[in-house]
Amino acid sequence: MAAKYEEVLKIEKLYFDYSDTSVLKDVNLTLYQGDFLGIIGSNGAGKSTLIKLILGKLPYYKGSISLFGTDIKKSFPRDKIGYVAQKANSFNTSFPATVKEVVMANLYSKKGLFKRYNKQDEERFYEVIRRVGMEGCENRLIGRLSGGQQQRVFIARALISEPKLLLMDEPTVGVDMQSVTEIMNLISELNRQGITIVMTNHDTPALVEVSSKLLIFCSHGNGEFVDRANLTMEQINQIYAGKRRHNHE
Ligand SMILES: Nc1ncnc2c1ncn2[C@@H]1O[C@H](COP(=O)(O)OP(=O)(O)OP(=O)(O)O)[C@@H](O)[C@H]1O
Ligand SMILES: [Mg+2]
Repeated sequence: MAAKYEEVLKIEKLYFDYSDTSVLKDVNLTLYQGDFLGIIGSNGAGKSTLIKLILGKLPYYKGSISLFGTDIKKSFPRDKIGYVAQKANSFNTSFPATVKEVVMANLYSKKGLFKRYNKQDEERFYEVIRRVGMEGCENRLIGRLSGGQQQRVFIARALISEPKLLLMDEPTVGVDMQSVTEIMNLISELNRQGITIVMTNHDTPALVEVSSKLLIFCSHGNGEFVDRANLTMEQINQIYAGKRRHNHE
């Protein structure tokens, strides 16, 4: 059934080393439109590295990564990809920019610095700001918002360019529990609306809850790519502990 949907991401036999650390070993996975991939693994397992590789930010020499059917080494579909980095790394929040400026900046990078946004862009802005529940905050300074509110703004920033694939590396780090739930609900809602999601999260149970596919980096070995629907939480734990290999059909 999945094959009816557009292929979004395909990773085949991917290996990656930093100069002295071997990180990824034979990663294989395929995602179709509407999938929600949760990447699970302990600190240092390679989760952020994999996301950077998919974004084309790190060079690799072994294996392949394709987005929407094209190898990223041939061309990278910038317009179709949204990225929400860990808040602390993604933006200097003491910079005196308003919510609107932060979100719209992602349109400038698409349109070029000197093009002004038009009425359609304005409408799009109000739509995404409503979608993340931040209406009424357009002119507030980003540095004066709470962590959860800032994270919503960063999601709106990614959404403004209408991505088909949204990559998120620990989007709820440093966010209070109430906001974590709201942000996870928001991400699930975007997924239900058809956006494919790739996400890491330190809160494994919460991530497993919303994912349709999992990439599990177990304590020894490679990432195991599994279909969430076929597994109990106990089986997932066993794979994570390296005690069980999932049998691919
Ligand atoms: N720029 C770098 N240069 C060299 N080694 C690195 C670099 N970045 C990460 N590493 C190493 O690569 C491994 C994987 O790191 P990565 O950041 O991908 O892990 P992670 O799964 O995202 O961990 P965390 O849960 O802590 O975010 C670690 O051993 C880390 O020390
Ligand atoms: Mg990481």
